[in-house]
Amino acid sequence: MQYSDKVMEHFMNPRNIGEIENASGVGEVGNAKCGDIMKIFLDIDGDIIKDVKFKTFGCGSAIASSSMATEMIKGKTIQEALELTNKAVAEALDGLPPVKMHCSVLAEQAVKAALIDYSKKNNIHIPELDDVV
Ligand code: FES
Ligand code: FES
Repeated sequence: MQYSDKVMEHFMNPRNIGEIENASGVGEVGNAKCGDIMKIFLDIDGDIIKDVKFKTFGCGSAIASSSMATEMIKGKTIQEALELTNKAVAEALDGLPPVKMHCSVLAEQAVKAALIDYSKKNNIHIPELDDVV
C-alpha cells in the first residue's frame, strides 16, 4: 500500500492531539468495519471554531485524517466546518489508498457529530445537520 508523504507526515507528527476541557461540542464516532474510534473536541466562540483537538484510536490514515481535518477547521466558521467533506480531507493529504478512504469519512463524521453536540447543548438548529445521524 502506498501512502503519500503528507499522510506519513501527519501520522508521525499529528497536529491538535488531545482533549479540550469543557468543550463546546464533542463528537465520537466509530467504524463498525475496523473498530477504530475517533473523538473530536470543539471550542466554539460565537460562530468561530477557536480551538479543536482530537483523540483517535485507529490506523495511521485515521490519525492523519483527524490531524488534517482539525487543521482545516481551526479558526473557521461553523458554516465552513459543515462544508468539510471526507474527499477534501483525503485530497489535502494528497490522497488515501482506496481501502483507507473510510478513515477520512470518520473524520468528517466526527466533526459533524461534535457540531451536533454543540447545537444540542445550545439549542441551536443547524439545518445542514438534520440528515446527519
Ligand atoms: Fe490490525 Fe490492529 S487490527 S494492527
Ligand atoms: Fe478504520 Fe482507518 S482502518 S479508520
